[in-house]
Amino acid sequence: MSLIKLSAIDSTNDYLKVLSRNQIIENFTTVVAEKQTQGKGQMGATWISEEGKNLIMSILVKEVLRDVDAIFHLNVAVALSIFEVLNETKVSNLSIKWPNDIMSDHKKIAGILIENSIKSDGKIESVVGIGVNVNQQNFENLPKASSMAVVSNSEFDLDELLHKIIFQIKKNCGYILTNQTDKLWSKYHENLFKISIPMAFEDVHQNKFMGIIQGVTSNGLLQIKVEDDSVKTFGIKEVQMLY
Ligand code: BTN
Repeated sequence: MSLIKLSAIDSTNDYLKVLSRNQIIENFTTVVAEKQTQGKGQMGATWISEEGKNLIMSILVKEVLRDVDAIFHLNVAVALSIFEVLNETKVSNLSIKWPNDIMSDHKKIAGILIENSIKSDGKIESVVGIGVNVNQQNFENLPKASSMAVVSNSEFDLDELLHKIIFQIKKNCGYILTNQTDKLWSKYHENLFKISIPMAFEDVHQNKFMGIIQGVTSNGLLQIKVEDDSVKTFGIKEVQMLY
């Protein structure tokens, strides 16, 4: 596995995408940076991270997903890997908020952006971008964000976390390769934020409604039991949790 350490870059995801387009690079090649000038978040958002305080990394994953219908398995494997590594630290009350945010209580402490591409030979290649808020102390204007240090009152070694995350991702990708995704899914569901708890949601038309999360489908849709007891499924852009 090769590790590329950068002091500053626009986005580690973009850097890794260009690198893998221009040369053959090893599976699980990882790029880590101290600072991003154009860090990307989900749904076109920007990812802001204080220089040198947090983990900003991207990992190339290839030869793991064999089928476009199975793409969400990688989201599950990666979210679970970060959850598992953080769960071994002093950070408490961790959960995975659908589709793949890592929460401590009601605060987001890590986010994942996976960018998949299908190569000319049909193979799927994924750039797995991970931002973990580790030692940053201030989150001005980000009331729902926090860091491992803030929630646990401790400091963490970035390098140690980086290596543990890479190790866990490789291990969990092994379960995808050996068709044992049920192991990943059961842990993902066990630790899903607000599963089985009544809560408020808002749909794309700004209609608020009460519901209970039942789980996530194999292709990544959120299943919510609504007031008439039917179960509806929602994509990422179709529903927002109000918490
Ligand atoms: C989210 O919105 O929750 C996803 C955040 C993903 C941020 C990481 S930081 C490293 C990698 N490079 C990027 O530009 N984004 C991801």
